[in-house]
Amino acid sequence: MKRGLFITFEGGEGVGKSTQVRRLAEALRADGHDVLTTREPGGSAGAEAVRHVLLSGAAEPLGPRMEAVLFAAARSDHVEQVIRPAVDAGRIVLCDRFMDSSRVYQGVTGGLDSVFMAALERVTVNGMRPHLTIMLDIEPSEGLRRASARRGAGEDADRYEKEELALHRRRREAFLAIAAAEPDRCVVIEAGRNEDEVARDVLGIVRQVVAARDEPAALAEAAQA
Ligand code: TYD
Repeated sequence: MKRGLFITFEGGEGVGKSTQVRRLAEALRADGHDVLTTREPGGSAGAEAVRHVLLSGAAEPLGPRMEAVLFAAARSDHVEQVIRPAVDAGRIVLCDRFMDSSRVYQGVTGGLDSVFMAALERVTVNGMRPHLTIMLDIEPSEGLRRASARRGAGEDADRYEKEELALHRRRREAFLAIAAAEPDRCVVIEAGRNEDEVARDVLGIVRQVVAARDEPAALAEAAQA
């Protein structure tokens, strides 16, 4: 059986993560792969229940540590109930946001200390590190413009999108710093271009990673033949 792959998408608001996840899933399925798409916070029954608490702002008065623990609780459920079983079954899992979002939103701009955040990450990820992380990068003012256009007139911005541009700039730098620190896992893709170009680049990178995954099996088959 093929080994599974775990691929995460990260980046700020309006960068096009969900569109690119959907397009990549379609392209990989057309290539004949068994693909599962999911997202955070959420993606499993337990985590979806926590998602509502987090995104409504109901957890905000409880403080950033409590919020970080809730994101972690949701992630732990998602990893154990959905992601790990799918990867173990040989599927390609595409996840819209994962541990880097916690590092950036709770750790860097939430001001939580790195020892606490690293401990939380270790127990929640529990060895299920992404094989590949696509960092979609956009100038934050353009990202915010896209996020508000997508929402359309008459709908409220969620609490994260209302935050100031300066905060979004710090998050962008933080995502780029993670990518620079972990080049084996992360690839940065310029997401200010049109959707087709971004999708083509994403697919190109993922096909390389899939080929690298399949290569040992192909070699073993050739050796047996
Ligand atoms: P969502 O509506 O899914 O937005 P987006 O399209 O931007 O992914 O909301 C997710 C929000 O939750 C997003 O603003 C980032 C935040 N978040 C964290 O703060 N920490 C985390 O660990 C995760 C996964 C998300």
